[in-house]
Amino acid sequence: MAVATPPQSHSADDEAMILDVVRDLVREKVAPRAAAIDEHGEFARDIYKLFAENDLLGIPFPAEYGGLGLSFLTYVKVVEEVSKACASSGLMIAVQELGALPIIIAGNDAQKTKYIPKLASGEYIAAYALTEAGSGSDAAGSMRTRAEKRGDSYVLNGNKIWITQGSVADVISVFAVTDPTKGPNGISAFVVEKNFPGFKVGKLEKKMGIRGSPTCELIFENCVVPAENLLGEEGTGFKTAMKVLDKSRPGIAAQALGIAQGALDYAANYARERIAFGKPIGQQQGIQFMLADMKVEVEASRLLLYEAARKCDQSAPDLTLYAALAKLKAGDTAMKVTTDAVQILGGFGYSTDYPVERMMRDAKITQIYEGTQQIQRLVIARTLVGKWKAPATTA
Ligand code: CAA
Repeated sequence: MAVATPPQSHSADDEAMILDVVRDLVREKVAPRAAAIDEHGEFARDIYKLFAENDLLGIPFPAEYGGLGLSFLTYVKVVEEVSKACASSGLMIAVQELGALPIIIAGNDAQKTKYIPKLASGEYIAAYALTEAGSGSDAAGSMRTRAEKRGDSYVLNGNKIWITQGSVADVISVFAVTDPTKGPNGISAFVVEKNFPGFKVGKLEKKMGIRGSPTCELIFENCVVPAENLLGEEGTGFKTAMKVLDKSRPGIAAQALGIAQGALDYAANYARERIAFGKPIGQQQGIQFMLADMKVEVEASRLLLYEAARKCDQSAPDLTLYAALAKLKAGDTAMKVTTDAVQILGGFGYSTDYPVERMMRDAKITQIYEGTQQIQRLVIARTLVGKWKAPATTA
C-alpha cells in the first residue's frame, strides 16, 4: 500500500493521511519486529523496504528531486510515531534525512538530480560522516581527515567513527579539511559513494541501544572523490554541517519523544492492570504522581519539538536555538520517562520480556548523538551571552 503522492502544497489532510498509514504500518509490521531487531542487532532491511515502498524516506525532500515536498512537521511526527514502537526503525528515517541534507542544502542542481531521487526512493541508503576519534563535540577544531585536490579529484585520507548506517550506506556526506590554516573555514563537504576507490568500512560498534542501527568506523585511504562531488565552495563544509544539524536535531528529538511516549503508554496500561495492596497500582498516589510527571515532560517536549519543526519549515533565524532546545528537552525526557517506566513495572520492567528496558537503553543515545546535551546547552547559552572571543594580546 503506497502513500499516494500528495499535492505539493502541504495541507493538514496530507499529514493526517500519512500519519494514518504510518500508525497502521507501525502496529502491523514494525512493533511486532522491535524486540527481535534489538536482540539480533542487525539493520532490518525488511523495515527499510517497507518505509521505501510507502514513500517515508524523503518526506521533506523537495518534490522536484523526487521527495514528497512535505513539511518538517510531518516528517518529525512520522519519526515520533515509528519510534514509539522501535527507535532503531525511527532512526532509519531520521538518518536518511541527515545524510541527504548536505546535498539538499549545499549541493548544485546536478548533484541533487543525481542523488536525491535515489535517496528519496530508498534505492540509496544515506549516512553523515563528521565525527572522528579526537573530534566529537569539537567538530571543527580537531578534525584530521584531509582532502587534497589532485587534478579533477580530491584525495581523502583519515578515519571517521560512530557513523550511523555507515556500514550499509550507499552514499555518505563526508566532511574533511581542505585548508588546515583556516580552522572551521578550511573544512569542505563531499559526497562519497561506497564503491569509490580507497573507501572502506572499519570496526562495527557493539552498543547498549539502537542495536538495529549499525554504527561503524569509516576509513579513507587515498580515497579518490571526483571534484564534481564537492558540495558548495571549498571551505564552506563546516557551516553546511552546522546548518544540517539545525534541521536534523529535531529528527533526534522526535525519536526521543517517540521513545518516551511509547514507554509512558506502556507504563500507564500496566498501572491500570497491575494489582497491589488490593487495587490497581495506577490508583496509588505514588504511581499517579510519577505518571503525571512523565506526561508533563512528554507534552512539554512535544510542544518544543513541533515549534522547532515549524522553524525548520520557515528556515527561521532562531532555528539553531529551537533545534537545540527541542533536542535537549526531548532527550532528557526520554531518559527520565523510560527509567521511570522501568520502575513502575518493577522486576518485570528489568526483564527483556517487556519492552521498557529496551526503550531505556535506546533513550540514552538521544542524550549523546547529534550533539551531546552539553553541546545543546552551549548552543543555547551562546544565543544569550554570545561566544567568548579571547582579547588579542599585544607583544
Ligand atoms: N549555522 C550556520 N553557521 C554556523 C552555525 C549554524 N548553526 N553554527 C556555527 N556556524 C558558523 C559560525 O558562524 C562560524 O562562522 P565564522 O567563522 O564565519 O564566524 C563557524 O561556523 C564556526 O562556528 P563556531 O565558532 O561557533 O564553532 P565552534 O568550534 O565554537 O563550535 C559547536 C561549534 C556548536 C560546538 C559545534 O562544533 C557543534 O555543534 N559540535 C557538536 C557536533 C555534533 O553535533 N556532532 C554530531 C555528529 S552527527 C551524529 O551524531 C549523527 C548520528 O549519529 C545520527
